[in-house]
Amino acid sequence: MRVQGRSVISLKEWTPAEIKQVLMTAQWMKANPKVAEIQYALRGKSVAMIFELPSTRTRVSFQVAIQSLGAAPVILDWENSQLGRGEPIEDTARVLSRYVDALVVRAKSHEMVQQLQKWATVPVFNALTDAAHPFQVLADALTIWENTGYLAGAKLTYVGDGNNMANSYLVIGAKLGMHVSVACPAGWMPKEDVVAYAQQEAEVTGGSIHITSDPEQAVFGADAVATDVFVSMGDEDSEQKREALKPYQVNARLMAMAKSNAIFLHCLPAHRGEEVTADVLEGPQSVVFDEAENRLHVQKSVLYHTLAEF
Ligand code: CP
Ligand code: NVA
Repeated sequence: MRVQGRSVISLKEWTPAEIKQVLMTAQWMKANPKVAEIQYALRGKSVAMIFELPSTRTRVSFQVAIQSLGAAPVILDWENSQLGRGEPIEDTARVLSRYVDALVVRAKSHEMVQQLQKWATVPVFNALTDAAHPFQVLADALTIWENTGYLAGAKLTYVGDGNNMANSYLVIGAKLGMHVSVACPAGWMPKEDVVAYAQQEAEVTGGSIHITSDPEQAVFGADAVATDVFVSMGDEDSEQKREALKPYQVNARLMAMAKSNAIFLHCLPAHRGEEVTADVLEGPQSVVFDEAENRLHVQKSVLYHTLAEF
């Protein structure tokens, strides 16, 4: 696998074989956290983390992942750096590339991350934009694999807002040969270009893509059911949107349409009683805390494959 020096922007740029390798290494690292080869793999390196939006999981799991490979994390908050005062991204990218070995960035706009990658001379890792959340869906794929035992042929359903998570489920599901079913209200569908891309990829991998406004149809026979907040960071909090999304709540009645051993996924933070009921989130099918843990393992795996010198 030749991914050394590569960025992760939307996962479109990664092949199915490369994604599977990342997941296999993540699984191995999870089982063998104290192996010296891993603990010192990035010794002497530094990784800057830029946050334009709040974060709990991403901030901590990336920081711990970087440290656990022997590298040093450098955290920049938007408001306390010159970015908050309008320094251009292209200048920031070139300056930081002189100091550190990679950039982790959470930004409001996907274009900003693409711009950062264009000007940086080190790998850029997208830690969430309005269009994609690639490390989250890598963690979700690992969680499905752990619970179901397979990815190709598994049915993954996403119910809710056609947001960054919906887009990224389409991309990774198609790449891994999964049957991805997405149910969103009209007007809040995933991006059309992402749906078209996923359909093309699924044809190659033997997966399939199904987009609907009917949550029950989407969940029927699913191996994994996922949802996300109705209103994302940076979104306009409109009553109209919340109303449109009400029928898309994941509750016990909807979960009953999935396979009896289906798992429930949510990237968190969750709003109990809104996109998911408390009984589902806290119930036996929910694996949301394993999913959160898996952020750490997939991020270690990507950092290792892209930054370690062999
Ligand atoms: N799931 C996730 O990305 O969480 P944070 O916003 O807390 O990083
Ligand atoms: N769709 C959510 C995900 C949070 C991890 C958001 O963008 O706010």
